[in-house]
Amino acid sequence: MKGRAEPAGAASEIWQPGGESTRERPAPMSSDEERGSGVTADQLSASLIPVEIRVFRGATRDITFDVYLKLGEGNFAHVFSRNTGLDYKRLANYIQKGVTQLYIRQEDLDAYRKFIERTADSIFQDPKVSTERKIASLLNMTEQNMAEVFSQAEVSKETADSARKVVNNYVSLMLDDPKTLAIILNLVSHGEYLYYHSIAVSVFSLFVAKASGQFNRRTFEMIGMGGFLHDVGYTQIPKDILESEKELTPEQWEVMKQHPTIGLRMIESTPNIPDEVRYMVYQHHEYPNAKGYPNKLRNAVIYHPAKIVEIADSFSALISNRPFRKAYSVAEALKIIQSETGKHDAQLVKILTQIFSRSGGQKAAA
Ligand SMILES: [Fe+2]
Ligand SMILES: [Fe+2]
Repeated sequence: MKGRAEPAGAASEIWQPGGESTRERPAPMSSDEERGSGVTADQLSASLIPVEIRVFRGATRDITFDVYLKLGEGNFAHVFSRNTGLDYKRLANYIQKGVTQLYIRQEDLDAYRKFIERTADSIFQDPKVSTERKIASLLNMTEQNMAEVFSQAEVSKETADSARKVVNNYVSLMLDDPKTLAIILNLVSHGEYLYYHSIAVSVFSLFVAKASGQFNRRTFEMIGMGGFLHDVGYTQIPKDILESEKELTPEQWEVMKQHPTIGLRMIESTPNIPDEVRYMVYQHHEYPNAKGYPNKLRNAVIYHPAKIVEIADSFSALISNRPFRKAYSVAEALKIIQSETGKHDAQLVKILTQIFSRSGGQKAAA
């Protein structure tokens, strides 16, 4: 599906702040489980929204909202209360049993967001916590997907090790600004595909930047951040468009094409996000052949790091499973990118190929 330039849909849920959950609506809770709450089971059911269980792993025990577990269709249990807090043992048990989501009430969304920020703060600001653990706390969420990405690539062990190091670098950059961190955590809560794709684009962009050897440390960090935030605008695109399994209609495509502009708006006034990052977010779908969006910029005026994010983005999307097609292999993805003359910077195509082609490195250690 190479004609479809942009990953068009989050494989998992995206919900809008203040909006309704886009996931299957939970069935009503029985009156027994919700006795004494002052709301009917239907009211409660309508207000429940899913959150990822992994967010609670390593979190602070105190919560200022109630948490529910879906036991089955029409059957929810109130498992953690704002009065008693999290129970780590039970939490571990749920995770072990394969539970991936818990539920909170819509009206507790702000409290939940604060909880996420507090958890990240407690991990990242605790001087006793080692850098390794800090990185691990972020990466354990992406581990599985990263493993998939790397299992498809014939990359060397050194390359994989470098990936960890560069992610480490950009995480340390993020740590300086709690608001940036909040954006990232918000991304995490907005759907797995988007999150993993963001990490992948960031890491791939850094590899490409590194291999092209023309950047200083600061630019390198900017690129990591630009890759990470490039699709932040997706969080505001309606789910029927994002998750479409069919070719988008021209009207839907127009909406989709707004995501760089929306993304720019979303980080416009965020402190500590440099303008370079804004350029990358805004221009990551501009193509050298002047057929990109939103502004059909000519090659000469596209910010070079935005071209790096563009190619990393295309590559990441191609090797990912999407609602409308299966993932391509690394070799297939490289071929597609090589065939898309004019869409990608020619020099960067060569660099990407060098990094990811089989001949470019030894096989990853099993
Ligand atoms: Fe995009
Ligand atoms: Fe993207």
